[in-house]
Amino acid sequence: MKIINSIDQMRALCRAARTNEQRLGFVPTMGALHAGHLALVRAARAQCPATAVSIFVNPTQFGPNEDFAKYPRTLEGDQKMIEAEGISLLFVPTVEEMYPPGAATFVNVEGLNDKLCGRSRPGHFRGVATVVAKLFHIVEPDVAYFGQKDAAQVAVIRKMVRDLAFPLEIVVIPTVRETDGLAMSSRNAYLNPSERKQALVLYRALCRVQTLADQGERAARQLIEAAKNVFRDEPAVRLDYVEIVNQETLEPVNDVSQGALVAVAAFVGSTRLIDNIVLLGTGHTRIA
Ligand code: PAJ
Repeated sequence: MKIINSIDQMRALCRAARTNEQRLGFVPTMGALHAGHLALVRAARAQCPATAVSIFVNPTQFGPNEDFAKYPRTLEGDQKMIEAEGISLLFVPTVEEMYPPGAATFVNVEGLNDKLCGRSRPGHFRGVATVVAKLFHIVEPDVAYFGQKDAAQVAVIRKMVRDLAFPLEIVVIPTVRETDGLAMSSRNAYLNPSERKQALVLYRALCRVQTLADQGERAARQLIEAAKNVFRDEPAVRLDYVEIVNQETLEPVNDVSQGALVAVAAFVGSTRLIDNIVLLGTGHTRIA
């Protein structure tokens, strides 16, 4: 497998793959691949005759004091994993290739930009929407795969695709977890052994909310309070937010009867982790 660095070459190869095989799937990533990323790649492989993957640690979605410089870069191992999945189109552009000098055009999904992680990470979703729009223009996929793990990102991308009429379908893959429940994330690599244990509080809090909702609690305020209580038992972890929102608008809901997204973000040491679950509305049955 050859790593493709140039936009022109990637576009030409993706067009050729589409002509030959018709349906092109696309999985954008920032690398440091784990089983969560591979679930997206496998879904793409299962549904599309050709699949492209990108690895690009996108500077515009990191804040000035965030981890852009230290974000794990493990290209050699990533390449092997991608190759083992039978992928032949791997796009790994440089920052200069993606952002030519003076690049000044950004995609702002207004109204969603400042929700959930967008509030604690100003500019984050602008960076995500901009790079994903650009990757969509380069790859021109028929289907693009995203993880439920980043639920707000999914809402932002879906809205962008709709508003700007990108001719593609978005498929969302459930969150892949470690056996003890921790959501897989490239940032888990930052955790030392005691932080790794503390990090489980995110999942514990979400499970508590799920249990109470299963028992009939409908009030978001009560569910949020219960989640916060779980965090109080793990004082080493600093809660950023726990919110219960509409999955599309990311606006807070008072009552979860119609279904809702329960999203948490917290600092474990200096590592910021996120996780979420979806509560289904009354009358739906839960898929395990
Ligand atoms: P990254 O964090 O590398 O994630 C790439 C894709 O993998 C995203 O769609 C993310 O939601 C998904 N993913 C990560 N962990 C997962 C898990 N445990 N289970 C299921 N899916 C998981 O998200 C980004 O990169 C960037 O913002 C990107 C979209 C590439 C734009 O730069």
